[in-house]
Amino acid sequence: MTEIIRSSTFTFSSTKEMKLWAQGKNKAYIYTRYGNPTLSVAEKKIAALEGAEAAVVTSSGMAAISSALLAALKAGDEVISTAQLYGGSFRLMRDVFPNMGITVRQVGTDLAGMEELVTPRSKVLYVETPTNPTLRLVDIHRAVAFAKKHRLVSIIDNTFATPVLQNPIACGYDMVVHSATKALAGHSDIIAGVAVGNSSWMDRVRQMIIYLGGSMDPGAAYLLIRGLKTLGVRVEIRKHAGLRHERRAACGAALLRPRATVPAGSESWWS
Ligand SMILES: Cc1ncc(COP(=O)(O)O)c(C=O)c1O
Repeated sequence: MTEIIRSSTFTFSSTKEMKLWAQGKNKAYIYTRYGNPTLSVAEKKIAALEGAEAAVVTSSGMAAISSALLAALKAGDEVISTAQLYGGSFRLMRDVFPNMGITVRQVGTDLAGMEELVTPRSKVLYVETPTNPTLRLVDIHRAVAFAKKHRLVSIIDNTFATPVLQNPIACGYDMVVHSATKALAGHSDIIAGVAVGNSSWMDRVRQMIIYLGGSMDPGAAYLLIRGLKTLGVRVEIRKHAGLRHERRAACGAALLRPRATVPAGSESWWS
């Protein structure tokens, strides 16, 4: 069992240790917004699941998404994003980013016309697949190849697929974000998020979490670790239930008809 280390502050064992920390020569825990042993356990487990070097757990999925994006963006930069996204991510880009001087250019989940959106200011490609709530799919290989071609930082929301079904880091994505509130934690009893990627990107995301305050509570980290232990079986069960439903639906075409009402192409579900 992982211990819940509830301490907000930590003491140095000696002045010497404190000096080494101040010189950046050791990584002691000093304050839970900066890091905490229970959070570190959750981070190591999720980094391993995603096949990434490092992870940063956060107070919500939106804290992970906003901090990952702001770690890569500054005023004057442009984001190319799929138009169909979780509503919070869509509204962050629609309502907040323009006020920060960040332009968002949208592409449909089919990625048609993506090349025409690139400008010298393009900095980040952001995709979510499958999308919430319309369950549209983005070709993750095509998207990351496009990002690499144009030297964009690629960020993907992997909440719905989970690392059990989709490993974007192995495909070349720079950062993966999750609402850990959903499948990763799995019990609907916490709000949580996580970003994963290489150590250098995660240092920048952690810095953003330290600035903006989106750190995870150690109690939530404990519940997240508990949830991760059953992630594999839960996703497998859900996958088989989905396939059973798909087969039943294929027998009764009427069940599939409501899908035709889902907005297509580059329209957003939320606008
Ligand atoms: C795909 C996706 N990304 C991000 C979020 C935001 O996560 P949170 O509610 O944990 O902030 C959600 C929440 O529903 C989501 O479904």
